[in-house]
Amino acid sequence: MFITFEGPEGSGKTTVANIIVTKLEKLGFKVVHTREPGGTPIAEAIRNVILDKKNTNLDPRAEALLYAASRRQHLIEKVWPALKEGKIVVCDRFLDSSLAYQGGARELGVDNILSVNMFATEGTFPDLTLLFDIAPEDGLKRIAANANREVNRLDLEKIDFHKKVRESFLELANKYQERFVVIDANKPLEEVVENTWLEIEKKLGL
Ligand code: TYD
Repeated sequence: MFITFEGPEGSGKTTVANIIVTKLEKLGFKVVHTREPGGTPIAEAIRNVILDKKNTNLDPRAEALLYAASRRQHLIEKVWPALKEGKIVVCDRFLDSSLAYQGGARELGVDNILSVNMFATEGTFPDLTLLFDIAPEDGLKRIAANANREVNRLDLEKIDFHKKVRESFLELANKYQERFVVIDANKPLEEVVENTWLEIEKKLGL
């Protein structure tokens, strides 16, 4: 079972993922909790290049290829082996982030980014994608209030960029209805966790 957590900045998906993973482990499931870009040393090295605030002249297509490269390395070294062993893989961001950020917001075209990623992933799609939906204004307000979270290059994008990210995510949820569930992330944390857990239970047949 391959479950991905997607959403704009400040949607709380990482906090929710941590709680869900703990719940699954308590029930005896073997879970691998990982994130993109990153998740393995090589993929984390690529992540540092992508998110470095100094790299303001990183070309959008080069950026898209770096995400895809880090994704492939992560699949090879971590995700595919875990799935083969029957584990549940919970991944904070995956392919849909590339489709929404690079394809939609950076305007490289969702189909172009999909084909680059099909080469990278050999057609691996998540079984379940939870989209934590929140208006960018509210998400960015949360980030500003959280002093522990480091601001990265993409956080510094203008609000219009984040609006396009949100729209693209919602379009993807509509296009891939068989694997997407939209969670209202503007609710209190307990409620978001509860709604997320209901979807996981449904998917796992608990
Ligand atoms: P991260 O610090 O992990 O952000 P968050 O906590 O919001 O998940 O940074 C990841 C950034 O990279 C985030 O701004 C989204 C972006 N991103 C893409 O643009 N394309 C991608 O394919 C992925 C995986 C992430």
